[in-house]
Amino acid sequence: MFCCVTLCCIAEELMEMESIRFKLLLLFSLWICPLIHATEVSYCDENVEYNVKVKGVEISPNPIARGKAATFTISATTGESIYGGEMVIDVSYFGWHIHSETHELCAETSCPVSIGDFNVSYTQVLPGLTPPGSYWLKMKMFDGNKNEVTCIGFGFYIGFVSTVADIAQ
Ligand SMILES: *[C@@H]1O[C@H](CO)[C@@H](O)[C@H](O)[C@H]1NC(C)=O
Repeated sequence: MFCCVTLCCIAEELMEMESIRFKLLLLFSLWICPLIHATEVSYCDENVEYNVKVKGVEISPNPIARGKAATFTISATTGESIYGGEMVIDVSYFGWHIHSETHELCAETSCPVSIGDFNVSYTQVLPGLTPPGSYWLKMKMFDGNKNEVTCIGFGFYIGFVSTVADIAQ
């Protein structure tokens, strides 16, 4: 625990540095300090001005329990009204693509989405065999005309803890 806290502090001190070393350290601290770090969201392409800006992601429960439903709530702001569309979600584990799914945007938020703040909340169950550890989730959002309105990525963590029900399966 002490080691974990120390590494998180080092990572935060290096927050200003845009170095590969910092990114590695951050990945490492995400791996061991899931309870301390808030979910950091990044855009897939920092050079693109996405129409939908994402302010944050909340994951519940955090860490996610193996084989159990997890809810992701994304708070965002849109510069244009959205009348429909899709969210395409890809999950990877240490760079391995392990899971994809597509959600109707209007099933996860109320449509039409008018200009300004909105929240998208969706629940997913990852395959029961997923090992504990750090995962990366990439989410692309498309409007009704199939234009990409945003693309974000963030890390999340699946805990070691399993329930009795999991063991019995
Ligand atoms: C989005 O969710 C956050 C809390 O998770 C809440 O504070 C905010 O008011 C919500 N925004 C909208 C537009 O519903």
